[in-house]
Parts: sequence; C-alpha cells; structure tokens
Amino acid sequence: MADPGEDRIAQLLGRVARKANGLSQPDRREFLRAGLAFAGSTALGSAAVMRDALASADNLPPNVPPWTRSVGPGVVTNPYGAPSAFESGVVRRTVPWLTASAISSISFTPLQDLKGIITPSGLVFERYHGGVPAVNPDDHRLMIHGLVSRPLVLSMDQLMRFPSVSLIRFIECPANGGMEWRGAQMEALQFTHGMLSCCEWTGVPLSVLLEEAGVKPEGRWVLAEGADGSAMTRSIPMEKALDDTIVAYAQNGEMLRPEQGYPVRLLNPGWEGNTSVKWLRRLEVGDKPWHQREETSKYTDLMTDGSARQFTYVQEANSVITFPCPEKPLREKGRYELEGLAWSGRGRIRRVDVSLDGGINWQPARLKGLVLPKALTRFSLPFDWDGGRALLQSRAVDETGYVQPTLTQLRQARGTESIYHKNAIHTWRLDESGAVTNVQIE
Ligand code: CO
Repeated sequence: MADPGEDRIAQLLGRVARKANGLSQPDRREFLRAGLAFAGSTALGSAAVMRDALASADNLPPNVPPWTRSVGPGVVTNPYGAPSAFESGVVRRTVPWLTASAISSISFTPLQDLKGIITPSGLVFERYHGGVPAVNPDDHRLMIHGLVSRPLVLSMDQLMRFPSVSLIRFIECPANGGMEWRGAQMEALQFTHGMLSCCEWTGVPLSVLLEEAGVKPEGRWVLAEGADGSAMTRSIPMEKALDDTIVAYAQNGEMLRPEQGYPVRLLNPGWEGNTSVKWLRRLEVGDKPWHQREETSKYTDLMTDGSARQFTYVQEANSVITFPCPEKPLREKGRYELEGLAWSGRGRIRRVDVSLDGGINWQPARLKGLVLPKALTRFSLPFDWDGGRALLQSRAVDETGYVQPTLTQLRQARGTESIYHKNAIHTWRLDESGAVTNVQIE
C-alpha cells in the first residue's frame, strides 16, 4: 500500500498483536470459542467441496458442457423457486455458544455473499425469544386499546383494507457486533455484522390506525406485544408511533416469512430491531412506558459508572467493508472493486470514506445505487492490490453530520461492559497472502 503508511501499519500491527496477547482469560476463551464456532457451524467448507467435486476441466472451452448438449427440467418443476444448488453455501448461520437455546437465539445474514441493498427474505437474520409461532392468519387479530376512544380488534382482511405504504428500510439487532466490546473477535463478516438486513416492507402507517382508534390526549406511549410464546413486549413513544412506524404484513413483495412475524409485525425504521415486534397481536396506548423485561434487564446499556442507559432506540450510523472480508479473501494481485455497506437510523448516508492504512489516509467512496433514509447504502472504491499488507476501514457520515466513531472513541464514551449499539469503525487486516482477518486497532 502507500509508502507513508507502512511504518504506521507496522506500528498498528504490533499493537494488534499485543492486544490479542493481552486478552483477559474470559475474552480469550470467547475468542477461541468464536473460532471453533465458526469452524463448526459453517457450511462454507462443504459447499466449496461440493463445487470442487462437480467441477471438471471437460466443461471448459472449447469443450461444450453437458448442460448445453441436453435440455433441463421444464416449468413448475419447482413451483416456488429456490437458489441454484451451487449457492447452497449462502445461508444463515448461528454461533452456538452465544445463547443457551435455539428458541431464544439469533442467526446471522451472510452479508459477504449479498449484492445491492435488498436482503433476500430467506437470508434475513432471525431473532426469537420463544421460537417461531405458527400463526393462522384467519385466527389472528390485531387489538388496539388503552387510552383510545374507539378500541379496535382487526382481522387481517380488515387491516389490509387500510391504505398501505411500501418502504425499503434496514432492520439491525442492537447487539450486532456486541461480542467485540471486550475484544472478542469473530473471524467472519457474517458474525461481526450479520444481525443486519434491509427489505422492502409493506403495511399500514401506525399513525393511520391510531387515528382510527382515536388516541386520547394523555396517550403518550404505545405498548407493542407479540403473539409468540414469549409475548415479547416493548414500549414505543408516541412521537415515533406517529412518525414513520408501520404495521407491516409484506416483505420483498410477498407476505412476511414466518420467522419475520407472519402475518403481521411492527416496523420501527432505524430503531433497534427488538422494538419491531413480530407476530403483532396487541397495541396498548398508555401515558408512560411499561418497563418490560426487554427494556430493563435486556436492551439497556451498562455504562462505566455502573448506571444503565434505557430506551436507547436509534441505531447510529455504521458501516463495514463487505469485500474483501474474511470469507472473501483476495486470490491474485490486480484491480478490485472494494465494496461495503453503510446505514444510519437517523436518515440517509451522506458519505463514506475508506482507509487502506488503518485510518491515516482516507478517500471518499462512491455511493452505489439507491441512497434511501434508514436503508442499507452500498459503497465502492476501485482498489489496486500489489500484494502488500493493508488495514481496511470504512467510516460513514449521515445526513445529520454524525460521524461513525473509532473504537477508542466509543469505548471512551461507553466503556466495555455494553452489549448493544456497537457502531465503531471496523478494521480488516489484509495480509500478503490475500487473507483477511478481524483486528481491533486503537
Ligand atoms: Co438500545
């Protein structure tokens, strides 16, 4: 990479090494477990083995491969289409040690394999607190009650008669990257940033439903409750409910997937994913928050002075380089298009800068395609790799002027005891072999 950066890179790499050696015992255990979890849970290996086994030089030009010398299956062989068998490695994955049980757990989106800004419905990360309920839409009702003049009990048919909107918005779990607060480093983009998705959502603005119910003047909060076995509940301030919250029943053009809240969910654009309550059955208007489990013992942020921040809803500006990354190393020297994703819960991404030398020099990336508020935004930068080492970073700035912080800045403000809202600048180390590893630099 650029000569002026070499010394600094060497210095930073030294610090990285010291950091790894200096991990405390629990952190080191986490780190080792993370590595094992990745090796154990990934289907990357088996997919690659499958492709290698099927590959044959006989299929390459000037030979004519068998699929050109024959005809294939006809229409409706597969009435609901599925990805090519050669893409069987592109799947959600879990980190088994992260949670005690699969029914209250999380799976991660394979960001390393995705293009554009839309997450295919089958690859949207999952987060459940009581497993996926099998809700019969004909037997499901949405109840709106509390401090309202006209309580409502809506069937799905009745709900879907209201005028709808379609919005492309991200959903991110606030725990995304949370394992890294104390230094545990997941060796995969899928696990550092994969609690993240972006879909087109269709539904009814909550403001429309609240107007129909007639919110009383003292109504300041809305409790959202899910129909799943955990009856997941969160308190939503009225300002948000009347702003851009929607009651969504469709995703990427079709009804919601069961794991995304079928037949209806809340969507709070730009806010921590936990507030976008799935399998929505009840909205209660009240005059104060309810202080439910998911907003007291969970989804609060422990600060250095021992106090905890509560109701920290917004997912602040964040970004990550998606190529190259640990799962997508460089295999030969030459020109590449570095790519990444940026997003902000406060609005549009204004710019993204990229550094190849650990934050010494920055250059503006190009924002590709749609740049929408509270949506994933793809960025790119032409990148010539000469076989040298690099420390790759991206830094997002949103339309409010908020600049994505360094890890040091974030730790200064928040300490290291948090789980949620880790949006620091992320560093990938590219080595001479083209391999990419996850490092933290200060
Ligand atoms: Co929060």
